[in-house]
Amino acid sequence: TKRLTIRDIGRLRQRAEPIAMLTAYDSVMATLVDQSGIDIILVGDSLGNVVLGHETTLKVTLADMIRHAAAVARSTEHALVVCDMPFGTTTDPETALRSAVDILQHSGVQAVKIEGGLSMVPVIKRLTDYGIPVMAHIGLMPQAVHQLGGYYTHGKAAESADRLSREARALEEAGAFAIVLECIVAEVATAITAELAIPTIGIGSGPGCAGQVLVINDLIGLNTRPAPSFAKPRADAAGLVRTAVADYVAETKASALQKRAGAA
Ligand code: KIV
Ligand code: NA
Repeated sequence: TKRLTIRDIGRLRQRAEPIAMLTAYDSVMATLVDQSGIDIILVGDSLGNVVLGHETTLKVTLADMIRHAAAVARSTEHALVVCDMPFGTTTDPETALRSAVDILQHSGVQAVKIEGGLSMVPVIKRLTDYGIPVMAHIGLMPQAVHQLGGYYTHGKAAESADRLSREARALEEAGAFAIVLECIVAEVATAITAELAIPTIGIGSGPGCAGQVLVINDLIGLNTRPAPSFAKPRADAAGLVRTAVADYVAETKASALQKRAGAA
């Protein structure tokens, strides 16, 4: 099977076939996710929280993203692979272009994702004019957590719903091939989906989006903190790990005791 391109993703939208996207950060998980029929793999800057143990995504660097994106890109052959542009790399169009070139050149992914509304229009124009596919991302933007003052649902007031809709249309016009809608009121996300030709990929934004994305660890229950309420875990991977490790520890301790007892 050939690797999906952004044109294939556009065709899924035209055929009204929902798009399935998940994150992955390392070789084993990326291989498993890729072999299970996913359309898009996102190397999210959720890497910071999920893999690197940071409180927010703000500490994730370009080098962090490139290292993990490279592992995912070389371990997959079917999915379109998208890499998040981390905090500080999208401050202006030239900085963003330089950073996106670094990501594509050194990791082998096919596209980047950029958080932000109207201020990202010139950035996305620059990258897409240069030939780099960009996925946009509005609503809850974790890189802006200190400005937003926390993690909460967006689009509740009519004014905020209108702004989200304007942003989505401007980002499509700027050249984005898809747009993530994170924690947006479901009716607003559904309305934005109908207004756009490009696919919306929802997370915590209801079933009316053109596709859905989740953090892989939330999907399989590989977490030490509760997953967000919209991510219903379909497995208890953390439980499997705890049980396997506890069994191993118990067996190892027991066999060591037996050996010493036998030698005495
Ligand atoms: O970093 C990430 O995992 C993301 C998705 C949740 C959309 O941006
Ligand atoms: Na992200």
